[in-house]
This record gives sequence, C-alpha cells and structure tokens, in this order.
Amino acid sequence: MAEEAILGYLAKNEEIGDSGEFASKHGLNHDEVVNVIKSLHGFRYVEAQDIKRESWVLTNEGKLYADTGSPEAQLFLAIPPEGGIPREELQIKLGPLLFKIGCAQAAKNRWVDMGGQVTRRVQHVDDRVKDLLLKIKEGQVVDQDDIKALKARKLIVPQTWNGYSLKKGPDYAPQRKKFAADLTREMLQSGDWKNVEFKEYNFNAKGQPIEAGHLHPLNKVRHQLRMIFLQMGFEEMPTDRYVESSFWNFDALFQPQQHPARDSHDTFYLKVPSTTKELPEDYVERVKCVHESGGYGSRGYEYDWSREEANKNLLRTHTTAVSARMLYNLAQDTLKKPFTPKRYFSIDRVFRNEAVDRTHLAEFHQIEGLICDRGLTLGDLIGVLHDFFSRLGMSKLRFKPAYNPYTEPSMEIFSYHEGFGKWVEVGNSGMFRPEMLLPMGLPEDVRVIAWGLSLERPTMIMYGYNNIRDLFGHKVDLGLIKTNPICRLGL
Ligand code: PHE
Repeated sequence: MAEEAILGYLAKNEEIGDSGEFASKHGLNHDEVVNVIKSLHGFRYVEAQDIKRESWVLTNEGKLYADTGSPEAQLFLAIPPEGGIPREELQIKLGPLLFKIGCAQAAKNRWVDMGGQVTRRVQHVDDRVKDLLLKIKEGQVVDQDDIKALKARKLIVPQTWNGYSLKKGPDYAPQRKKFAADLTREMLQSGDWKNVEFKEYNFNAKGQPIEAGHLHPLNKVRHQLRMIFLQMGFEEMPTDRYVESSFWNFDALFQPQQHPARDSHDTFYLKVPSTTKELPEDYVERVKCVHESGGYGSRGYEYDWSREEANKNLLRTHTTAVSARMLYNLAQDTLKKPFTPKRYFSIDRVFRNEAVDRTHLAEFHQIEGLICDRGLTLGDLIGVLHDFFSRLGMSKLRFKPAYNPYTEPSMEIFSYHEGFGKWVEVGNSGMFRPEMLLPMGLPEDVRVIAWGLSLERPTMIMYGYNNIRDLFGHKVDLGLIKTNPICRLGL
C-alpha cells in the first residue's frame, strides 16, 4: 500500500516534501511509511532526506490540567467570592497536593490573599495554563516564554518527530522489480533461470542469532588454566570426590584437630554417612604419631589425636585433600619402583561454611598445582610461580610470608593489576612440611612445592564481575552467560 503510493506519487511528482503530511493525506500510518522508505532507499528507488521536528507533548500532569483546569484556577474557584474560606477547609476541599501547587501559583499571580482565611483578591481569573495546554495538545504554536514556564512546571516535555523528504533515486521505477531469491528446480527445468534477475546477497545483513550452547566464563577460564598446566607438563589429578574424610582433608595435611578451620562453623560435615569406612591403617598410625609426638625432627602438636575426629566425613574444603591422596599414592609406588618426579594440577569445586557476600560463596573452585621432586627449594617455587602467572598475563608478582599448617615456608602471592593500579592477592603457596610428606613414605630428599588459588577470582577480574553471585550460584542470569565475550586477551 504505502510502497505503491510513494512510487506512484513520485512517477507524477518531483518530490514528497514531508513523509508525515504524505502519510496523513493518504490515510497511511507514518511508521509504516518510514519502514517502506528505508527499504526503498536501500534499493536506491528513492533518495531520502531526514526531517526532524521538535514538538511538545503534555505530560500526564499536563493532560490532567488540560481537562480539569490548572491547580491555581481550581483553587481560586474553590474560594467563595465573599469572605473567603479557612485555610484548613480549603486544603481538605482540594486535597494536599492540589492545594500546595494551587497556593504557590495563585499567590504568585496575586489572585488570592493567603492567611488563616484565604480570600480572593480579584473578581475573575483566566485559566491561561489550561488554555496553553489545550493549544499545545492540538499542535498550535505557543509563545517561547510560555513554553519555558510550562516546561519548568513539568507539564510538557519535548518530543522529536522524525520523517523524510523524498525524491526519485538512481534506480527509481514506478514498480518494484521482484528479484528471485532462490534458484529452483522449476527454473532449471523450464530454462527460466536465464531470464530471471536474482536478488543480490546482502553481506551487511545480520545473521540469525544462533541457538546454541554457551560456555560459562568459569568454564572458559578453567580451560585456559588447564591448557597452561598441560603446556607446563602437569598431569591432572582425579578430583571427583566432593565428600572427603577429615583425615585426608586435614589430618594427612598435619592440620591439628583443634584447628579453627575444622569447626563446623567453617566446614560442612555430613550427617549420612557421617564417617568414612576405610583409611590406610599403617599410614593413619604414622599420622597419629606425628600429630601427637612428632618425629622427623619435629615435636608434633603434643595432644591426644582422635581417630573419631579423623573419620568424620565432610565436603572437602580444599583440593589439597586430593593432592594429599596423590602424594600418598606416589609414596606407595616408591615401594615397588624408583621415585619419579611428578607435576600435578587440579581445578575443581570446594566447599566452605561461610557467610555469603559479594566475594564469598559457600562453594567455589580451586586451582592447585604442585611439583614433587628431589631437592626443590623456595627458589624453585618462586620461579615456577613466575612462569605460571605470567602465562595468565600477570608478570609483576610479589610474595608475602604466610602461614598454612601444611606448608613451611608459606607465601601469599600478589600480582600488580595495571587496570586497578594496585597489588591484588592472587594465591597462596608453600613447600609441604616434612611432617606431611615423610609419614606418607616419600624419600627424605623429596620436596613438594605447591600453590593454590580460586578460579572465581581471576574470572571476575577478567570478565569484570564485582559480585561473585553474578557468576556462580542460583542468582546467575542466563542471559549474561549467553552474552559474555568469546575470549579475553590478557587480564
Ligand atoms: N589449600 C590452600 C587454600 O585452600 C591453598 C594452597 C595449596 C596453599 C597448596 C599452599 C599450597 O588456600
């Protein structure tokens, strides 16, 4: 309809001066006319020039006063011509809002005397505001000063109207040519294909959004980290064991049974099954000994170690429980064959009984790396940390002495974040203690350097999240997972 009207009109006339006027003259909807113009313009049937017009429209409040009169006029009319009306009574009559606005405006116009008794000062008033609003509503021209005043009272707001003026374009034709979009079997059979004009490809058209799976940012960063570890010659540890015994999560790591982290306020314990069935008994015995009385040059913690405490099942609080199992297995292997150095890593979920806030969840993911070899030193640890973190884009590192029950020395790792302009903590590290390694049965000169960090932290920094709950957990917006960047270059 609109297309025929436009092309037909241009066949007989030089131009269409205003698409708005054209639409109303031909009884067409202007939005529809605009769509047709855009398409005709795209195919060069017409040349189009933008027309913008500023107009004013009434706000809801403006519409109300155009119907019922301005508050000041309503107030004026509510005052009896003789003797006036007590202020309170007038307020009740008009309602608090109308009364307030009406008073201010009527007093400004010197229409009324405000006091305990409100009285008229003049006999008659013209409701100019209402008249002006009605004029604007009908699209009539109104004085600039009046516009300003009505705008200040938020009774009108500006609105831009967009339309076009049109002329014939370079490819103008009174009727749009139909181009074939597909080469069909019929065309081939009849030979029509020789005469048909085909539609050109529009390489600027956006494709359909793809309905496909989307990778969660945590998955992408995990993949990136896994690649880094694999390139550095690390093997992945089996982490499919969310439920651990206290023994592997704490005792094997020389973490004393009175340690505050073992409190149920910090750790989730299982009700069913509440205890583990099986532990390697001779190793348990050596762990008990090292806790109670030390050995290997250590005094131990000098307390009575409880097997019941070690048996308790929990949701693992760190993946270092996995590392302990792996190192124990490695030590078992040395009973049968010579010790071989190992590089292990894991990236998986851990659980802590923590108050949830912007940066903490009760479950998150840990990244852990460890190297087990003869004669390793703190210098090796610092070196490997530089190597590892620089592959993540963090090349400025600093270390701060720290404490873990299972490492000595221990270091917190800080990285300088160029974007934030400050040092941020990115991980924890250390050399596993002899009290942890020797009861396992590892050769005496074997040292283990290890480090751990959360997966969420670097992901939040990389993808610009500042609330961990936007990233993981039941409040995550699925749309956000669909629209996050495909990849990130550097931190
Ligand atoms: N397990 C430590 C944590 O939960 C991380 C760590 C791993 C520290 C290995 C030192 C060595 O924070």
